[in-house]
Amino acid sequence: MKSSNIIYHQATVTQQRRNKLNNHKSVVLWFTGLSGSGKSTLAHALEEKLFNMDYRTFVLDGDNVRHGLNSNLDFSVDDRTENIRRISEVSKLMLEAGLIVMTAFISPFKKDRNEARSLISHDNFIEIYCKASLETCEKRDVKGLYKKAREGKIKNYTGIDSPYEAPENPQLTIDTDKETLNESVSKILNYLEKILVN
Ligand code: ADX
Repeated sequence: MKSSNIIYHQATVTQQRRNKLNNHKSVVLWFTGLSGSGKSTLAHALEEKLFNMDYRTFVLDGDNVRHGLNSNLDFSVDDRTENIRRISEVSKLMLEAGLIVMTAFISPFKKDRNEARSLISHDNFIEIYCKASLETCEKRDVKGLYKKAREGKIKNYTGIDSPYEAPENPQLTIDTDKETLNESVSKILNYLEKILVN
């Protein structure tokens, strides 16, 4: 922390009271996986379902957040770490605000994800690994970026010349190579059923 003399103000409207008003717990669903593994698609499809069931939700998406809050960050190791640190802090605030937060970032480094978990709190952090082989993601190449990375036009591309460290013990693994979107969404909804009860 750079500044001293900062004193925390305790809110009287707490996370617990917000959860009670909303009729559900708040959690962070942390999607991780290669670019093109289906994180954003899955997070948005899940949000659509939850929203229609009257849950308070929000999706934080890598590509979107990098247009605004994190527009000063690139894809170096340090900036990816900073990207994830900021997202962890924002997620924590949204958690306190009572939301079901879905984050869709590659978040390639175990250490950064573990720090996110510690900051947000173990109980409220659900790691969801979107598992798809590099081959599949490259074949999908929705944004055409794998092609550019292979041609050397983009440096430090995850899976090509920058590493992706898969989670060892995620709460959920979604095999987007094999499952349909509907199957994956149902799997997460089933998992959440008990967790979201106040
Ligand atoms: S993270 O590694 O810092 O977590 P983040 O999820 O925010 O990444 O952004 C990833 C998205 O940025 C990818 O889906 C892709 O569209 C785009 N992108 C652009 N350059 C790169 C790169 N060098 N590596 C990975 N993704 C990149």
